[in-house]
Amino acid sequence: MKKITSLFLVSFMVLGLVACANNGGSAASTEAASTEVAGEANNEVAASTQKLIMCTNAEFPPYEYKEGGEFLGIDVEAAKLIGEKIGAEVEILDIAFDSLIPTVNSGKADFAMAGMTVTEDRLENVDFSHTYQTAVQSIIVPVDSDIESDADLYDGKKIGVQLGTTGDIYCTDDFGDENISRYPKIVDGVQAMKTGAIDACVVDDQVAKAIIASDTSSFKILETPYAEEEYAIAVKKGNKELLDKINAAIDEIMSSGELQAIVDKYIK
Ligand code: ARG
Repeated sequence: MKKITSLFLVSFMVLGLVACANNGGSAASTEAASTEVAGEANNEVAASTQKLIMCTNAEFPPYEYKEGGEFLGIDVEAAKLIGEKIGAEVEILDIAFDSLIPTVNSGKADFAMAGMTVTEDRLENVDFSHTYQTAVQSIIVPVDSDIESDADLYDGKKIGVQLGTTGDIYCTDDFGDENISRYPKIVDGVQAMKTGAIDACVVDDQVAKAIIASDTSSFKILETPYAEEEYAIAVKKGNKELLDKINAAIDEIMSSGELQAIVDKYIK
C-alpha cells in the first residue's frame, strides 16, 4: 500500500533552488499598485488595498464552498486573515480543481488555496507554503455496502473521485484507471452512488464527513490506510516574495490560535 512521505523538507529545498528564478511579480500584485483609496495614497493605505487573487475550487466543504452566492470555509476565512496580515485584500477565483496549478503558473491568480495536498509531482510545478492543515483520504460507501475497507475495492469495484485530486491519483494507481469515475465535484460522485452507478467515493476525510452529514442514513465512511496528507498554499515557482509573506502569516495565525478558531467554527 502506498506511503506518502512528508514533503516539508523537500519543499524547502526546492524553494531554495528556485528562489532566484523569478522576481515574484504577478499580474495581480502589479495591478495592486493602482487599486488605492481615493485621496489617501500614502504607503500604508496602498499596502492595505493591495489585491491578491486566490484561485480555489469551491466544491470542498468545510474548506471552500459557496452558500447564497458567498464563499465560505476554512480556506476562505484563513486566506482573508492571511491577506490582512500581509496587507492585501484577497479576491476569490472559483475554478476547476485541475486548473488551479496552471492558473497560478499563468499569473492569472497569485496563489491557490484549496485543501491542496503537497505532492512531489505538484512540487515540480509550484512552490508550496508551510503546511496549515493535515488530512487523510476516506472511503464513502452506501450504508448497506459490503465494502469494509480499501481491500474490498480491488475486485473491480467502481470508485468515484474528484478529477485531479490525490484521491484520483492514488485510486487510479491502486485500483486501475478502468475502475475510476472522475467527477468535477465529489458531490456528483456521491449522487452517482445513490443510483448505483458506482460503489464508493474516495475523498479527504473532513470533506467526506461534511458531504454525508445531511445523509448519514444513506452513507457511511471508512478510513483508507493512506498516510497523512499536508495542505499548503501554492504559489508560482520562484515567487519567493509572496511565499515568504504567506509563510510568515501562516506561522502567525497558527501560533496565535487564530487558525484553530476558524477550524473550530467549521469542524465540530
Ligand atoms: N487534498 C486533495 C488534493 O490536494 C483534494 C483537494 C480538493 N480541493 C478542492 N477544493 N476541490 O488533491
